[in-house]
Amino acid sequence: MSELKVLLSRQQIAERVTEMAKQITADAKGEPLLFVGVLKGAAIFLSDLVRQVEVDATFEFIAVSTYGNRPTPTQELRHAWDSTGEVKLTKDVDQSLRGKNVILVEDILDTGLTLTFLKRLLQGHQPKSFRVAVLLDKPSRRKMPVEADYTGFQIPDEFVVGYGLDYAERYRNLADICVLRNGTSTNEN
Ligand code: PRP
Repeated sequence: MSELKVLLSRQQIAERVTEMAKQITADAKGEPLLFVGVLKGAAIFLSDLVRQVEVDATFEFIAVSTYGNRPTPTQELRHAWDSTGEVKLTKDVDQSLRGKNVILVEDILDTGLTLTFLKRLLQGHQPKSFRVAVLLDKPSRRKMPVEADYTGFQIPDEFVVGYGLDYAERYRNLADICVLRNGTSTNEN
């Protein structure tokens, strides 16, 4: 049986997102921002973040898939899964990022594989500036040397759901971020 335990409450998340929005606003120095959210997990974080940023801002979404030996969700929960390193873009941005102040928005930074791929891809558009905002960071899981410019929370290596994060597409709509346990070991998203 799966068990949910609150790791970060909706209030903790809201307070931290407000702080992040303030920092992003200060760093923008009045210039417009283009946020790029990574589907699907970042959708809720992005929507809360952009509404508190006090400069002219718009947003786009992109999507990626990781392919190779991805196990079933149950296997993901039971056994640590290491990605094969293959990331594919499945939805591109709808406008050029050239000359824009871009902020890539991710729900979670885990192995760093996705972020490494996306940084390389989006920086190829030659934006004026490029920064990364992640809500959650699992530094102990990192396989690639990549970091975010804005980090909400560093968390331990637990399987987390809620606030956009899923387990087999479930739990994305939970207002809190919860650890999901099924009585065995833990794993990444
Ligand atoms: C999650 C998350 C990142 C990626 C991070 O996406 O949104 O894109 O994994 O992992 P990494 O650092 O090991 O590359 P997921 O594949 O769960 O898709 P989702 O956002 O649609 O839930």
